[in-house]
Amino acid sequence: MTYDVDVIRRDFPILERNVHGKPLVYLDNAATTQKPRSVIDRLVHYYEHENANIHRGLHTLAEEATAAYEASRLKVGEFINAEHPGQEIIFTRNTTESINLVANAWGRKNLKPGDEIVFSAMEHHSNLIPWQLIALATGARLRFIELDESGHLRRDDALAKIGERTKIVAITQMSNVLGTINPVKELAQLAHRAGAVVLVDGAQSVPHMPVDVRDIDCDFLAFSAHKMLGPTGVGVLYGKRDLLEVMDPFLGGGEMIKRVTFESSTYADLPHKFEAGTPNIADVIAFAPAIDYLQALGMDAVREHERDLTQYAIDALERVEGVTVYGPKDATERGGAVTFNYGDLHPHDLSQVLDAEGVAIRAGHHCAQPLMRELGVVATARASFYVYNRTDEVDALIDALGAADRIFGNASTARAAAR
Ligand SMILES: Cc1ncc(COP(=O)(O)O)c(C=O)c1O
Repeated sequence: MTYDVDVIRRDFPILERNVHGKPLVYLDNAATTQKPRSVIDRLVHYYEHENANIHRGLHTLAEEATAAYEASRLKVGEFINAEHPGQEIIFTRNTTESINLVANAWGRKNLKPGDEIVFSAMEHHSNLIPWQLIALATGARLRFIELDESGHLRRDDALAKIGERTKIVAITQMSNVLGTINPVKELAQLAHRAGAVVLVDGAQSVPHMPVDVRDIDCDFLAFSAHKMLGPTGVGVLYGKRDLLEVMDPFLGGGEMIKRVTFESSTYADLPHKFEAGTPNIADVIAFAPAIDYLQALGMDAVREHERDLTQYAIDALERVEGVTVYGPKDATERGGAVTFNYGDLHPHDLSQVLDAEGVAIRAGHHCAQPLMRELGVVATARASFYVYNRTDEVDALIDALGAADRIFGNASTARAAAR
């Protein structure tokens, strides 16, 4: 049921380039993914043939641009199985802005001193700082669900922390550091039973596995186009219609109003109430072919491909002496962000040596400093995979670790023994 990776690689022009004279091995997909030709062409087509502002002009270009923008909205909504795609999908700049929107527009209205916001110890700063800010503004209290040693959420702690004071549970579906896939459907049930709402950070899950908002029964879902073959500058906030309708706007300005006087205004209907000003028209439109591309592959096949590749990578890394892999080791329980350290070599040094070999990985705290502290490290290296990666690229990573060992003498026995 999987697809032919060699065939689809031809759709990604950037994969043909060399870096430092070596073929590019792009393993930084959790940060952002590469774009297929269809997405790049759609952007160019828009600017060459359709460029106009939307929702206001009555001329042909404006009507065509508006139709294409709204068609993207419907496609995104259908992709995650929203019940009312035309109203429940809000375009933002990224996952970060989507979460800030909820923290502000929902949080300010619904949180008061004594209320609790529950998240987990593996959240990205994007799903942490907005809640810290809103807790400061409202007097609400922050609580986080702890992890067990294998990098899963502790179920007993979730049961203990989600209770009658909980007003919102904001949780990532897939960790960008540990790869862990969290049981968001079960957490949503727990939260709803306690009378709380649920926000799922889908930045790492929506690109990599089938995600169905009605099946999960989440109230909000946030994700970014750029992590799923689409352009940068486009985020999505899904919200249940009933909730969005009673929320106040996040940003005020043009296009989000019905009637304005000097003293007050009434707001536009959904989703425009939350899309103030000229949006990122071209990139929203070019997001549609990215979704077409993923749908043509099939999200089950995307998941299957990455699961196999992730297992191959974890097994290969663990065979290299001196490597520590963090998070679950069984790829059926996790996604394809594989975080590791190599002896006492600083991940930044490692990343630089790997780059000289053409291998692009991420090094640092991955916007998850509290989690780094839990792991007892200041930084890690991370290889992360997507639809176009192959096992020979994992082999290249392992070989490049050998190069790092030769330069730094880090783990003298570390060899590309993985194959
Ligand atoms: C789990 C998670 N949440 C949120 C984000 C933030 O995404 P963006 O930078 O597109 O807002 C990321 C980005 O890496 C992420 O991995």
